[in-house]
Amino acid sequence: MIDTGAQKSVVVVGSTNVDLIMQVSQLPAPGETVGDAAFTQALGGKGANQALAATRAGASVSFVSVVGDDDYGRNAREAFAVEGIDVAHMTNSCEPTGTALIFVDRHGENCIGVAPGANAKCDVTKVEQAHELVQTARVILLQLEIPLDSVRAVLNLESRAHTILNAAPMLELTPDDIGKLDTLVVNQTELTQIVGHCVRPRKGKVLNNAEACRSLHTLGVTNVVVTLGKEGVFLSSAGVQKALPGFQVDAVDTTGAGDTFCGALAARLALEASFEDAVTFAQAAAALACTQLGAQSAIPVESAVQAFLLA
Ligand code: RIB
Repeated sequence: MIDTGAQKSVVVVGSTNVDLIMQVSQLPAPGETVGDAAFTQALGGKGANQALAATRAGASVSFVSVVGDDDYGRNAREAFAVEGIDVAHMTNSCEPTGTALIFVDRHGENCIGVAPGANAKCDVTKVEQAHELVQTARVILLQLEIPLDSVRAVLNLESRAHTILNAAPMLELTPDDIGKLDTLVVNQTELTQIVGHCVRPRKGKVLNNAEACRSLHTLGVTNVVVTLGKEGVFLSSAGVQKALPGFQVDAVDTTGAGDTFCGALAARLALEASFEDAVTFAQAAAALACTQLGAQSAIPVESAVQAFLLA
């Protein structure tokens, strides 16, 4: 249900895709054809997945996104509205809805190629049209499947919201971008890339996670969460650094697990959980999301996560 009380709201500005999923015995190598795929089509996109994860985790969510004037776009808007997401700021473009081609192997690992389509039209104007929403949100959640200028435009709006950036897929962020965030969520590769680009450690110097996160804190970001797959997360906040182990599940498909983590984290922060409790909830939600095929169909509801945490 949509809660119009803005004080509990999460605003997600990001992508919508249609996911074309090939379940294969093994990921094709360059030049190889793997002929045993089972094919499924589903809604996806990092922005949409995160908006849905935040909704299912109990927050009221508004989603700012651009889709094509096509069946995929219409289906997406309708499906998200049915889930209770405020879709008033989902708009159309003449470009087709974004498309992701996803291979998933028998261990649940994936590789993904994305054609941005209409997501490339989620420009600064669209962000400015949603400025009231952003300015009254409790938590703002961003990823990098829309133009970087649009992400920056959101961060530049005057707002008291807690800002979270999931820096995926990687774009050339600057120290100034990092300094505007309350929370940065990255995987190990993204952490290394951002530190290399924004902090530029001495040539040949390899930073461990604790050092890398500390170097990002000097740019102004308050919390850095490094997701480590089934190993758990490394959490770094002012004065506190700790590793939180992962929940062990039988993974069928890890697609969207990171998105589930981010959406659930945003929701729990909006609902005033402590940072560490929000991270633990998000880890449990992400673990459950790995137990089913697909990104959005696998995102658990709040009660399922609570039950998993108590089991
Ligand atoms: O993070 C998973 C998502 O990445 C998929 O749903 C796909 O659309 C790509 O954007």
